[in-house]
Amino acid sequence: MENNARSSFTGKIGFVLAAAGSAVGLGNIWRFPYLAAKYGGGIFLLVYIILALTFGFALMTAETALGRKTGLSAIGAFNSLNKKYGFIGYLASVVPMIILPYYCVIGGWVTKYLYAFLSGGAAEAATDTYFGTFITQPVEPIFWFLIYLIATAVVVLLGVEKGVEKVSKIMMPILVCLSIVIAIYSLFMPGAIDGLIYYIKPDFSKFSITTVLAAMGQLFYSMSLAMGIMITYGSYMKKEVNLESSVKQIELFDTGIAFFAGLMIIPAVFVFSGGTPEALGKGPSLMFETLPKVFETMPAGTIVGTAFFMLVLFAALTSSISLMETVVSIVCDRFKLNRKLSCLVVLILSLVLGIPSALGYGVWGGVKIIGMSFLDFFDFLSNSVLMPIVAFLTCIFVGYILKPKAVIEEVERSATFKRKKLFQVIIKYVAPVCILLILISSVLEAFGILKI
Ligand code: TRP
Repeated sequence: MENNARSSFTGKIGFVLAAAGSAVGLGNIWRFPYLAAKYGGGIFLLVYIILALTFGFALMTAETALGRKTGLSAIGAFNSLNKKYGFIGYLASVVPMIILPYYCVIGGWVTKYLYAFLSGGAAEAATDTYFGTFITQPVEPIFWFLIYLIATAVVVLLGVEKGVEKVSKIMMPILVCLSIVIAIYSLFMPGAIDGLIYYIKPDFSKFSITTVLAAMGQLFYSMSLAMGIMITYGSYMKKEVNLESSVKQIELFDTGIAFFAGLMIIPAVFVFSGGTPEALGKGPSLMFETLPKVFETMPAGTIVGTAFFMLVLFAALTSSISLMETVVSIVCDRFKLNRKLSCLVVLILSLVLGIPSALGYGVWGGVKIIGMSFLDFFDFLSNSVLMPIVAFLTCIFVGYILKPKAVIEEVERSATFKRKKLFQVIIKYVAPVCILLILISSVLEAFGILKI
């Protein structure tokens, strides 16, 4: 990325769409519903929304402003502002490298389901044992992971992501509409109402520190925060574009899609499995086990299901392409390799890191890292450990080293900063203290030292 030849987004719409394209992906459709189901439904949703309006808003504003101010991506931005704090940029860059491999494993699962729906296997996919059989096989999960990973790499290598982005700009609105239709259908199934209540009515007895940590990790993941991505996007943003309102729109869009994904899936869990704790606590498999059952009962369900998995595949691809692109450009810059070679290095690295995740529910199911399967462990490491650390350091950097004034000035280049006071208080006091407390308690809990 040449600094002086930096291209920029045409305007506000361009920026919001590009950032939303990176934000909306498997995080919204696959990850949010299973976390909401697992961590108490309504209480998780409430905590998530509060965090989005406070932490999410403050961090996204700070990151975008850092990018726009310096015109550089993460490593360069921190380095140019203060040499001593350049390490935050490096730390942030590790996150996409951890996420990319297991993101592609899930992308592989989506591809497998699309293939099943296309090849007349929709009814089979709706059976109870389908997912479990698939995931425990030694070859299949790797096969689909490879297909997905290679597809991502080919797009990055050929530099045709603009083409994929164009297609996804058409697909994205269709995905939103289809999700709403499926959610409404889900809600009218007999027994769905209990699921709806579980999902939107907060039950305060289910509140715990783990709920907050899970919601916070999800917020960072879903909005692509605490990993340098929004800094890069900010560096392409024109000075006259309204930064504050762009951030608001991206947050609204991202949270809206996650909310509808929950509406599609959680009531259906109550319809088909009675909302038992085991059914709600399924984790990463929840979407794959529940949605085919919804499609099975739906008129023209095979067509709806095929369309759905195709659209999700596109949403996932735009995200994994952007993830890989980020890692490739870091490898290019850091190790002075050309793009082709960097792509190859990243491909091989992803392969090596992804295979344990692909096999972690089957053949390598016996291997556990602090009680977690490989995929869950990588997910925990990035979302619950590294991202909170990066977010904490970013708050300290902006709050005390650079001072919030620098960010406020950058925001006010285009319009008055309406939530200036809120921003200052959160970035200096609320966010760093809360993030640190949550991080420490959750890590202690993961290692079994603390019981919350
Ligand atoms: N936010 C994306 C999602 O919800 C996932 C993601 C995390 C991502 N980091 C990213 C996408 C970096 C693009 C770039 O699925």
